[in-house]
Amino acid sequence: MLVSAKEMLDKAKAGHYAVGHFNINNLEWAKAVLLTAQENNSPVILGVSEGAGKYMCGYKTIVGMVNGMLESLKITVPVALHLDHGSYEGALACIEAGFSSVMFDGSHYPIEENIAKTKELVAICAEKGISLEAEVGSIGGVEDGVVGKGECADPDECKMIADLGVDMLAAGIGNIHGVYPDNWAGLSFDTLAAVQAKTGKMPLVLHGGTGIPTDMIKKAIDLGVSKINVNTECQLAFAAATRAYIEAGKDKSGKGFDPRKLLAPGYEAIKATVKEKMELFGSINKA
Ligand code: 13P
Repeated sequence: MLVSAKEMLDKAKAGHYAVGHFNINNLEWAKAVLLTAQENNSPVILGVSEGAGKYMCGYKTIVGMVNGMLESLKITVPVALHLDHGSYEGALACIEAGFSSVMFDGSHYPIEENIAKTKELVAICAEKGISLEAEVGSIGGVEDGVVGKGECADPDECKMIADLGVDMLAAGIGNIHGVYPDNWAGLSFDTLAAVQAKTGKMPLVLHGGTGIPTDMIKKAIDLGVSKINVNTECQLAFAAATRAYIEAGKDKSGKGFDPRKLLAPGYEAIKATVKEKMELFGSINKA
């Protein structure tokens, strides 16, 4: 059964580790992430962007697929199905469809509007036992065509949003979605420490997990990050493994064109990436 992310993140915050949020794109992705979590006895969050939601034929299809997998793959570790960077309407649609967690990203609104909309969702989610992530200070890079500059959040605004009763808070600390450019300045630990000081027990979320050096990940966890989002890294691993299979001509040998064979190396590459992240984040054996 899908669970809210609240309990797993509160435990992670208290235990000084982070739970991985891995974006899914299709059946292979969902299966790879779920089985890796089960094999490593780790809690996990499946992230679905609005774009990926459309791609996978809507939120209800995804809920049906993931619930079916939990049963048929005998997944017993805590799993949350979470909307990533949702609009207000997207969050309502996911709640209705059976997601166990949603993010409302109001970071592009003036803070008053971000507060007003987040507040409404706090009430709706609380009633249904669904966890809610909010965002202050937009994350850089491009996600679903939305471009952010990688700003640093205002710690006082973070406190205002945290005090509304959200379950986790994404604060921009110079992080960027996608591959980091060579001239990236790194994470702003001063901002993270200031946000943590103002928000206390609130589990903090680090977006743009792809390509952040391991020492920075560890320091971010020390400073209160309890959820780390990874998307691009799984996509790159999947693409590289699929390319290697085709470039080796394996699709032309025997029944190598069978999608169950063609997609297998990419699937294994996602599993390896997810396991590596779970080790780094410290969530193994924390189910
Ligand atoms: P990356 O694609 O950089 O791993 O970021 C993922 C993310 O933050 C999803 O919200």
